[in-house]
Amino acid sequence: MMYDFDKIIERRNTSCVKYDLREVYFGRADIFPMWVADMDFETPGFVRDAVRERAAHPIYGYSIRPEAYFTSIRQWVSKRHDWQIEKNWILFSPGVVPALNMATLAYTEPGDGILVQPPVYFPFFNAVKKHNRILVENQLIYNSGRYSIDFTDFERKIKEVKMFFLSNPHNPVGRLWSREELKRMGDICVKHDVLIISDEIHCDLVLPGFKHIPMASLSDEIADKTITCMAPSKTFNMAGLATSSVITKNKRLRLKLARAIENMHIGNGNIFGTVASVAAYDNGEPWLNELMQYIETNFRLLDEFLKREVPVLELIQPEATYLAWIDFGGTGLSDRKIEEKLLNEAKLGLSPGPVFGKGGESFQRMNLATPKANLEIALDGLKSVFG
Ligand SMILES: Cc1ncc(COP(=O)(O)O)c(C=O)c1O
Repeated sequence: MMYDFDKIIERRNTSCVKYDLREVYFGRADIFPMWVADMDFETPGFVRDAVRERAAHPIYGYSIRPEAYFTSIRQWVSKRHDWQIEKNWILFSPGVVPALNMATLAYTEPGDGILVQPPVYFPFFNAVKKHNRILVENQLIYNSGRYSIDFTDFERKIKEVKMFFLSNPHNPVGRLWSREELKRMGDICVKHDVLIISDEIHCDLVLPGFKHIPMASLSDEIADKTITCMAPSKTFNMAGLATSSVITKNKRLRLKLARAIENMHIGNGNIFGTVASVAAYDNGEPWLNELMQYIETNFRLLDEFLKREVPVLELIQPEATYLAWIDFGGTGLSDRKIEEKLLNEAKLGLSPGPVFGKGGESFQRMNLATPKANLEIALDGLKSVFG
């Protein structure tokens, strides 16, 4: 290993959401936080160097995104995901969640339906409901520890909506949708003239042996209906730099979204995000490969430990992300009781399943992007309460 993912870094009192909001979010600050999706590992040195170099220049004024910014994104997406994109397909957004909300405003009207697949990343619900659009749900099927899509229900519901928020890889269930599943969803959307907002923020975080397929890479017809969200933020642990991309080949859709971003005046971004993004994509491959090996080892450690020491808990076998989706149903306890025990007895702050909507009941999401030593303490906590 060239990089040190075992290093423990003190994050308390850095105005960091994961640690410094524990009191607010969980009601107590003495728990180990394994909730919000950022990593306890160092942002890679080549990213920090780029930020430092830019910070050394004494003026932090308004700036533009240079050619290198677009080239690095295009090269990364081509190399890692076999998807060839053009510079002018790429729009800037300060985040993927802002992009989802912007898409709702740009492409739908109050009263229009938007489809989501719960249990799913909960800001999807807000990006529908907060704008008075109608939430339409195609709940994932959970069978023998594996998630799949109910296509009969999908096609029936898609007729009721204008737009579909896809999570691929899926947060929280960890599925990396297959070519067949994506093509089937994409073709149904094309058939019924439904736009696909494909949130692919976790696309780089695939476990060894798996491959991410961008929805828009599947056919010209699907590309024409798809707006893809990608970012270096999760991949390289730089969410605080608020830099992400919205990508679409469809010029009409792009102009509409660009207008929404312009109207809000949020397209400027920040100078550090720009240089960090270039450095990450240009240098990040070896680091990312090692990161995913480390994450895989953490998943394996968790899985083996639960099977051996805490058999009432079951890890859903992951394909991507660093988020473990754990079935607590075997405890026979209510969600409230599970959460209470996690907090007050195991002293762990996880993301409770019910926040992810239907099908999240009796699950918890545990963030494994943390040094092994931390994970081992968390596992002992789980064993002492549920073992
Ligand atoms: C599926 C998904 N989309 C978007 C985000 C957040 O995006 P951003 O911080 O760029 O708004 C997350 C973060 O956890 C996520 O899991």
